[in-house]
Amino acid sequence: MRSADHPLPSSAAAPGRIELARRYAAVRAGTLALVQPLSAEDQCVQSIPDASPTKWHLAHTSWFFEAVVLQPLEPAYQAFDPHYAYLFNSYYEALGPRHPRPQRGLLTRPPLAAIHAYRAHVDAAMQRFMATADDVRWQEATSLIELGLNHEEQHQELIQTDILHLLSCNPLLPAYQPGPPSTNSASNSASEPQWLAVAGDVRAIGHGGPGFAFDNETPRHQVLVHPFQIADRLVTCGEYLAFMEDGGYRQADWWLSDGWAAVQSEGLSAPAYWLAPDDPRAPAGHWQVFGAQGVQSLDPAAPLTHVSFYEACAFAEWSGARLPTEFEWEAAFDLPLITQMLGHCWQWTRSAYEPYPGFRARSGAVREYNGKFMVGQQVLRGASSATPAGHGRKTYRNFFPPAARWQISGIRLAKDTA
Ligand SMILES: [Fe+2]
Repeated sequence: MRSADHPLPSSAAAPGRIELARRYAAVRAGTLALVQPLSAEDQCVQSIPDASPTKWHLAHTSWFFEAVVLQPLEPAYQAFDPHYAYLFNSYYEALGPRHPRPQRGLLTRPPLAAIHAYRAHVDAAMQRFMATADDVRWQEATSLIELGLNHEEQHQELIQTDILHLLSCNPLLPAYQPGPPSTNSASNSASEPQWLAVAGDVRAIGHGGPGFAFDNETPRHQVLVHPFQIADRLVTCGEYLAFMEDGGYRQADWWLSDGWAAVQSEGLSAPAYWLAPDDPRAPAGHWQVFGAQGVQSLDPAAPLTHVSFYEACAFAEWSGARLPTEFEWEAAFDLPLITQMLGHCWQWTRSAYEPYPGFRARSGAVREYNGKFMVGQQVLRGASSATPAGHGRKTYRNFFPPAARWQISGIRLAKDTA
């Protein structure tokens, strides 16, 4: 699987077996903790083709270890059920045919209990493999196991965003994790954003150091970044409400052509999950937002989330600013006064999702992990409130189609330096 001209990333410099086994157990347990608030019915339904049922996520992340680590590297491994490869392969052409993505919600069988048994079967085999693999197979496996754990962390976030969309389709708007009512009031507001100046320079962009990174973050390379300014914080719900109240969704001038078409065809008038004051599902006389903790009063000072790239661009245009490129975002990451770079929302950038110069996908089945999606999508930087701790980083490149709103995506503004 490894070739001399495509060495494993330095991240794979063999973390100890015990350390990796412990991390494996923690990540897998983290996934199970996320599904605790959900019923079996919650976990079976697929609300849109882009989102997957929780049950499918639970199975697919197990299939990944089975298909990428156990079957290639553990000759004694016995598949839990040979049919599962068809059901739970996501998009890997090299690993065989698969169940159509839009029909994942039709899989009432196998039942949830069988999926948990599948997870336990894979976990036992993985722990056995990590304890007993000879040095040659261990060298092959370590970076694949690390990739599998990072893959599972990505699905931990998707479990949360996908279930939020599903629950938003229920007219009762049930909470994923009920919390206390919001105490935010319309008097809350964030202080004015500060514009931080960044000098133009040739910048080193991408991952080049130790630690795990996905292949799409490499190779580290040089990019000419012109002088620019970047906001020290994210755009807030209150600021976006001002855009709406100024006719944001009624004036084509601020919108990209495709964005305005989406406004027209989908009847958009607010971010996803916002409830207008007279929304019959929960009339309150003021704007509210549906989230993981149920319906809460809109907090004007909170970072805006669940907007598309189109909405982000329109807001930026209305503001007299623009979105940063992904290179500007990365160049600004370590500014002393910048805030909210990780842990609030993924931040749309003006950069198309393209391979970095010299990009080479990983070899083997996982060559399909990132590279084949490098067309027609925008890069988002940062990490969201649903991103597992430690998963995001300065060089991380998330990517979604420009119309996507079901992810926790928001806005940071930038400007050219006059
Ligand atoms: Fe996946």
